Amino acid sequence: MNIGGVQLKSNLLLAPIAGFTDAGFRHICASYGAGLTCTELVSAKGLVYGGKGSEELLFTTPETSPRAVQLFGNDPEFIFKAAADERLKPFDIIDINMGCPVKKVFNNGEGSALMANPELAAEVVRAAIEGSGKPVTVKMRAGIRQGEPIAVELALAVQKAGACAVTVHPRYREQFYVGAADHSVTRAVKEALDIPVIANGDITDFESLSRVKEESGADGFMIARGALGRPYIFRQLLGQEYDFDARKVIAEHIRILRSYTPDRVVANLMKNHLCHYAKGKSFAKEVRVLAGQAKCLDDIMRIVDAFF
Ligand SMILES: Cc1cc2nc3c(=O)[nH]c(=O)nc-3n(C[C@H](O)[C@H](O)[C@H](O)COP(=O)(O)O)c2cc1C
Repeated sequence: MNIGGVQLKSNLLLAPIAGFTDAGFRHICASYGAGLTCTELVSAKGLVYGGKGSEELLFTTPETSPRAVQLFGNDPEFIFKAAADERLKPFDIIDINMGCPVKKVFNNGEGSALMANPELAAEVVRAAIEGSGKPVTVKMRAGIRQGEPIAVELALAVQKAGACAVTVHPRYREQFYVGAADHSVTRAVKEALDIPVIANGDITDFESLSRVKEESGADGFMIARGALGRPYIFRQLLGQEYDFDARKVIAEHIRILRSYTPDRVVANLMKNHLCHYAKGKSFAKEVRVLAGQAKCLDDIMRIVDAFF
């Protein structure tokens, strides 16, 4: 699969997941065959105003390639400046978030709120292209209110503005992450567009991947929650052999995080990851309880030593 001249390693993509797709996790998923990885959403305004938080979200290892960064915002001027920022240089693709349902973002007219305004959405895409000179993609939902799909209209507008691909997570903003994704909406987008369309939502195994393939007819498939604690899902779905030694993978994950962020932040990020790495295991509950109580990286290391 090719997005605006960037050749992906496979057509299975790792979704942006706030609090989880840190540089360590993206590195690991790429090593297990993810064709493209993406940072979590980064505020265009925050980046332009020099927020230190954004810089850590932009860290990447050289091996994580190709790589996308996701920006959110609704002001074309800020999007232009953020897209032109030196700190985005390591990224091959810029994705614009038009799906975030969170109240703070939505009430600001950003994230999924942009779906209601295809003209402004198109301006945002043009600004990102002009600022970066890179391929720009858009990640969207089915629409805002249930039963009122606006994905096709929005997708056509951003394609016209120069977007190189769109990802459809076919739930409505008011559903947040609940209820089934309706991939007939993804199919309608696929049938209307000339650029590649990526289907996202409810892909967790072979069966669900086959179903989403059939329902959507999409070119690529993006996985979010199904990859948490299971970075090997990409190799699995690609039908390739793989090794997964959780202890080794967690050690590598922690090593990468420590190379760019303080131990206090590493501990907080790993708390959540450990719960996912332990999911389905006999010790899952104990890990969840201990991770909830962990106060520092030493506490996290003790959990790793005891259980993995
Ligand atoms: C905790 C969490 C954080 C998320 N953060 C982002 C984000 O930063 N940007 C984004 O576009 N989508 C974000 N999403 C949405 C996912 O990328 C994806 O669209 C959604 O989870 C559906 O895919 P899935 O069924 O494979 O989980 C997030 C989802 C969750 C559960």
